[in-house]
Amino acid sequence: MQVPFFRLDVTDDMRSAADEVIASGWLTSGPKVQAFEAAFAQATGARHAVAVNSCTAALHLALEALGVGPGDRVLVPTMTFAATAEVVRYLGADPVLADVCPETALLTPEVVESALARDPDISVCMPVHFGGLPCDMQAIGDICRAHDVRIVDDAAHALPAADTGGPVGTLADATCFSFYANKTLTTGEGGMLVTDDDAIAARARVMRLHGMNRDAWGRFTVDTARWEYDLVAPGYKYNMPDIAAALGLSQLDRRHCDRDARGAIATAYDEALGDLPNLRRCGRRTAASVEHAWHLYWIVLEPDAPINRNACIDALQALGVSCSVHYKPLHRMTYWIEQLDCTPEQFPGAEAIWRGCFSLPIFPALTSSEQGHVIDSLHQVLQG
Ligand SMILES: Cc1ncc(COP(=O)(O)O)c(C=O)c1O
Repeated sequence: MQVPFFRLDVTDDMRSAADEVIASGWLTSGPKVQAFEAAFAQATGARHAVAVNSCTAALHLALEALGVGPGDRVLVPTMTFAATAEVVRYLGADPVLADVCPETALLTPEVVESALARDPDISVCMPVHFGGLPCDMQAIGDICRAHDVRIVDDAAHALPAADTGGPVGTLADATCFSFYANKTLTTGEGGMLVTDDDAIAARARVMRLHGMNRDAWGRFTVDTARWEYDLVAPGYKYNMPDIAAALGLSQLDRRHCDRDARGAIATAYDEALGDLPNLRRCGRRTAASVEHAWHLYWIVLEPDAPINRNACIDALQALGVSCSVHYKPLHRMTYWIEQLDCTPEQFPGAEAIWRGCFSLPIFPALTSSEQGHVIDSLHQVLQG
């Protein structure tokens, strides 16, 4: 049996949503983007939702709207994907890499507090809700407000998720979601910036399309001077096409149902893997109000395991089970080592994860026999 790391459940709703856009003849940003934005804002409880063509674009636009520029310093956890730190560089600013909790891979209030105390030039903090588990945003928010630091949270993994303070999407100055191919809602490529801040939303809307004061749909739907627009800034080309928005809209209502399906898979893994020695199950917070999106189910092979992480992944692959690693941390990447002079010793929490971590298949369309094969294969590889 072959078990992929991810398989999309393509529904009739998705097919007909795409067909409808193609039949309409309007493929670029238009009425479907507007509808997706309105529905997404309502789903996350935010005042504004700005659709773009990736989470990377959303993160870039959020920092740009906050005025981040050369000389600014931005706190980024080392345990994240390339995008979270690279967007800081797009604006000529400097990321400050922070260590994470070895059990959750999250930025903790303690780490944020000591980083801000040490480095008063940090002006923005970017918590990452790793794997779909929300950071403690109430505590991080209190600390950041006390230091006059703004928050842009990277919620690429976190639809739908919630913390004590409410749904992810309402806990920061701006929150950025990803709709990449294997995310919990996918438009192939896509992203959404949500915010309660009118100025951030307005700036992001202009900057996502070349700095134009009117987009193509806005011009098409008025009677006069359809050709005319002004440029108010040198913007970017980050708009989401209608065909992507229609795909996103067609999946939005099933987000809780899909999350429950992933949660059930996580529970079954918990029960079946609990007796395996040398294996640490990670990514939990015990607060009752925390809702996990379960984008990832990641585990850590302890150093005394009979096999190392890479050999374990290869052995599972040979049995037909595809796994992945999230992530090789930023402080181990050549560019950031050269730029920031970082060493593994500065990040003990991330190091305790990175050496042994890997992620198992978790997606709503995973069948119970496929999950059984993943579990049996892991037992076979780790216990012989
Ligand atoms: C934590 C994190 N942030 C940002 C991104 C970037 O998302 P996108 O591919 O939509 O730009 C990803 C993508 O996988 C991610 O995992």
